[in-house]
Amino acid sequence: MEKIVGVIGSGAMGSGIAQVAAMAGHTVVIYDNNEQALEKARANLSKTLQKLEEKGKIASSEAIMGRFSFAANVSAFADCSLIIEAIVERLEVKKAVFAEVEAVVSDSCIISSNTSSLSITSIAAACKKPSRVLGLHFFNPAPLMALVEVIPAIQTEPSLIVEATELMKKWGKMPVVAKDTPGFIVNRVARPFYGEAIRIYEEGIADIPTIDWAMTELGGFKMGPFTLTDYIGHDVNYVVTETVFQSFFFDPRYKPSFSQKRLLEAGWLGRKTGRGFYNYAEGVESTAPTKDDALGKKIVERVVAMLINEAVDALHLNVATAADLEVAMTKGVNYPKGLLAWCDEWTAAKCLAILDGLYEEYHEDRYRASVLLRKQAMGNKNFV
Ligand SMILES: NC(=O)c1ccc[n+]([C@@H]2O[C@H](COP(=O)([O-])OP(=O)(O)OC[C@H]3O[C@@H](n4cnc5c(N)ncnc54)[C@H](O)[C@@H]3O)[C@@H](O)[C@H]2O)c1
Repeated sequence: MEKIVGVIGSGAMGSGIAQVAAMAGHTVVIYDNNEQALEKARANLSKTLQKLEEKGKIASSEAIMGRFSFAANVSAFADCSLIIEAIVERLEVKKAVFAEVEAVVSDSCIISSNTSSLSITSIAAACKKPSRVLGLHFFNPAPLMALVEVIPAIQTEPSLIVEATELMKKWGKMPVVAKDTPGFIVNRVARPFYGEAIRIYEEGIADIPTIDWAMTELGGFKMGPFTLTDYIGHDVNYVVTETVFQSFFFDPRYKPSFSQKRLLEAGWLGRKTGRGFYNYAEGVESTAPTKDDALGKKIVERVVAMLINEAVDALHLNVATAADLEVAMTKGVNYPKGLLAWCDEWTAAKCLAILDGLYEEYHEDRYRASVLLRKQAMGNKNFV
């Protein structure tokens, strides 16, 4: 495998992706405009690979370390046939870097972005040959998370989708193809997991520990929405929500919450700052959840019905195939089951009744059911 892979940005995602590519046998050039970041990535990669060697997961950490070169200039990308960009999430900066890199690489080199929320089409437009650009969206931590969303821009040469998908499979990943729409699959479909849970809390229907208890114990999710957003960091999670909301032309389904915005403003970013929805200071005990099964069931039904509606609507709008939607939500955010399978299990009629009930109660567009969910319910059909 002689393909040389270039990675732009040596932060959390860039170094993780570089590790995946090197472990798949590639020579990898890592470029960052911050020398300290490059040094840190080199040290972290070396430590990670040594640990993998100790555990017997790889034969030689040295051999894999030998595949990396660390560069302070884009000219080092000259011989690369694939570039993956993972720098700061700012469109203008990404566009400038894409144009700079395109001037260095060969005409056949594929240039991809790991952006979570920007339009691939707008990034591609910065290149002279936009047909060579596509999105390759890895999840954090890239070496452990199997999912990769492959996102063609509207300018992308269609054969690249197949090429990128095949390559990701060779890297041991589970690729899915997503349309270039805000949040792609996972960051779009998962929004109600956070948003609806926060709404339930804001309305005083249940407190934070009770909602987390319901979603984990009764819903089967690995982590409750408040524990999870405290882990992700409210700076990251809130910004994704706000970006998705703005990108969807302010569709109320994706409306951010004041509760989370205030956390951000206070600098209560979650675990990393010692406080978020929960207080992680030593000696502070969180209140016990109210383990009321009827209340818990109501919480799970409301959040999961909203999630199912998102997945069904994404299918309706051809954001992805049914199979890819299921892979994305089980491998990208580790949901206990695919949302379409969950819909079949509950029946589309039950999901529709929950949503229509909420719509009747609130008269908010946020609770409108996807037309596809309505059709499924009327036809008594299954998705998978
Ligand atoms: N962190 C996540 O959970 C996650 C998940 C999926 C995708 N992403 C996306 O991946 C990208 C990177 O995120 P991250 O969390 O690794 O960020 P990070 O802050 O850890 O790393 C970014 C790196 O890019 C470097 N950089 C910034 N501007 C640069 C430039 N102009 N040229 C070269 N290097 C530059 C920085 O020095 C830094 O080392 C973003 O687009 C983000 O949306 C992040």
